[in-house]
Amino acid sequence: MCGIIGYVGPRNAETVVIDGLRRMEYRGYDSAGIAVLSDGVLSARKKAGKLINLETELEVEPLPSAQLAIGHTRWATHGAPNDVNAHPHLSSNGRIALVHNGIIENFAELRAEAESRGAVFRSETDTEVAAQLLGLEVADGTELGDAMRAICRRLEGAFTLVAIDAAEPDRIVAARRNSPLVVGVGEGEMFVASDVAAFIEFTREAVEMGQDEVVEVTRDGFRVTDFAGHEVQGKPYHVDWDLSAAEKGGYDWFMRKEIYEQPKAVQDTLLGRYNAKRELTLDEIRIADSDLKRVDKIIVVACGTAFYAGLVAKYAIEHWCRIPCEVEIASEFRYRDPIVTPNTLLVTISQSGETADTLMAVRHAREQGAKVVAICNTNGATIPRESDAVIYTHAGPEIGVASTKGFTTQIAAAYLLGLYLAQVRGTKFGDEVAAVMAELESMPAKIQQVLDNTGQIHALAQRLRDTKSVLFLGRHVGYPVALEGALKLKEIAYLHAEGFPAGELKHGPIALVEQDMPIFVVVPPRGRDQLHDKVISNIQEVRARGAHTIVLVEEGDTTVEPYADEIVYLPKASTLLQPLLATVPLQIFACQVATLLGHDVDQPRNLAKSVTVE
Ligand code: G6P
Repeated sequence: MCGIIGYVGPRNAETVVIDGLRRMEYRGYDSAGIAVLSDGVLSARKKAGKLINLETELEVEPLPSAQLAIGHTRWATHGAPNDVNAHPHLSSNGRIALVHNGIIENFAELRAEAESRGAVFRSETDTEVAAQLLGLEVADGTELGDAMRAICRRLEGAFTLVAIDAAEPDRIVAARRNSPLVVGVGEGEMFVASDVAAFIEFTREAVEMGQDEVVEVTRDGFRVTDFAGHEVQGKPYHVDWDLSAAEKGGYDWFMRKEIYEQPKAVQDTLLGRYNAKRELTLDEIRIADSDLKRVDKIIVVACGTAFYAGLVAKYAIEHWCRIPCEVEIASEFRYRDPIVTPNTLLVTISQSGETADTLMAVRHAREQGAKVVAICNTNGATIPRESDAVIYTHAGPEIGVASTKGFTTQIAAAYLLGLYLAQVRGTKFGDEVAAVMAELESMPAKIQQVLDNTGQIHALAQRLRDTKSVLFLGRHVGYPVALEGALKLKEIAYLHAEGFPAGELKHGPIALVEQDMPIFVVVPPRGRDQLHDKVISNIQEVRARGAHTIVLVEEGDTTVEPYADEIVYLPKASTLLQPLLATVPLQIFACQVATLLGHDVDQPRNLAKSVTVE
């Protein structure tokens, strides 16, 4: 989960690479580095800390002007995040500069071999072994592409590698296994990067790279092969968003911008899914109806915020489809010998489509013969590519490390899937599907209403900014909303925050309640069941013990007034759709508290946006 980029073309390569790294800094920000090739000599600068440190270094120690460069922004795995371990790594014979995203698992034995062949290692990283081995290969007369293929056949683990050779002034070679890599095709210039955001300023024409492939790039073109050297066809695509989507557009943080983009993002997730005949058409679901009718169990697998979106989806899927639905954290799923059969439908949720744990779950499930549907925001990412079907959320790039529009659009997409299954299996009549669709389609305007009334949440954040611990309570779909509210606060405000099912409170967590402790409670709409009243009782339980209660409730519901210290009114929605509204004030609260505390909201400490290592 690092960001890597390579550029060859007529522009100032240093500027292109540094700008590209800035747009990928969300992927990791422990250190950054750049190498340029000028007059047959490789020069590198690398610095611990955020990109700004590298930029300062470049002012003090400028690089020679160049038209070929590679760069890296790091989330450390092997070796501390210091200057020496920062990428690019250079081979000790000065021939190769290389950047890497991933983990090379067999680096120790390869390092011993490289040392025995004369390489002198400088860093503690797994990456340097790839640079040294490449250096040895090219020094032996192997050309760079063949050398890359030769070492890739020997590496184990996950890697995207981008390398340049001092003897090849116009060529970049890159390879990928289990980590992302896209090629950007410009006119007389070419890019390789972890993410199209890195080059979107210059071209929207991209080429998807498959698993275990190498791309050789010159300013006029590219050639893709597998690791054995057989030519393969890259998959070209046009990126449907532009530079403005990858910039802050007047907001202080990407996260805040993305919170405010949610009405449009949810609308785009729903767009074009429902035809004039009032039928859901999920064109990307390339699984036969007969297979979907056979499904006897659904397992939703995801990490982080996407996992909480999955928890929300479970309630809807079971309710609409009457199929048992489990939701599991991806890193737990694979290693517990889960029961997966050809009649299981695995649903993965991943904003990036790159999360290693989720990807491994996909592979495991497919090995057992299960069909896999991916819910994903990133066109052509590894997880959708390796799945049987995909529902793209079309939310546009999400750059803030803490996911926001990712969450709400994942819920919307999972609901589309649930309704589609219900339609195919006949567990819902057409008019019932139509009613839910109509309500879903009304949600963007209601989310906008929530966003138009943020003054109260900002004031709340101001009052509670010095608090040390916050609890979040909910029931039914309000429970994952509580978990997500707590996660946001942990991720960016570094506050102790916990989400609990409100009914479970009395079995332990209530012991945490102290005088004036802020407790957010998500109250379900008043409906036929007793859920609403049960939550009101839970509010009373914590209030009686001194909690400061902040209650999220639908407008017009005055029953909470006697027990709430603060009331945040939400537009009316049915229980299953309420998470799309109730989450938004919690996102804003976390963003505002973190801002007031002076934290870097978009790049919180120790985190990275997509975790491409297991
Ligand atoms: C990281 C991010 C989270 C995200 C999770 C899953 O931990 O910090 O914000 O929810 O990964 O990412 P994915 O791309 O699979 O949705």
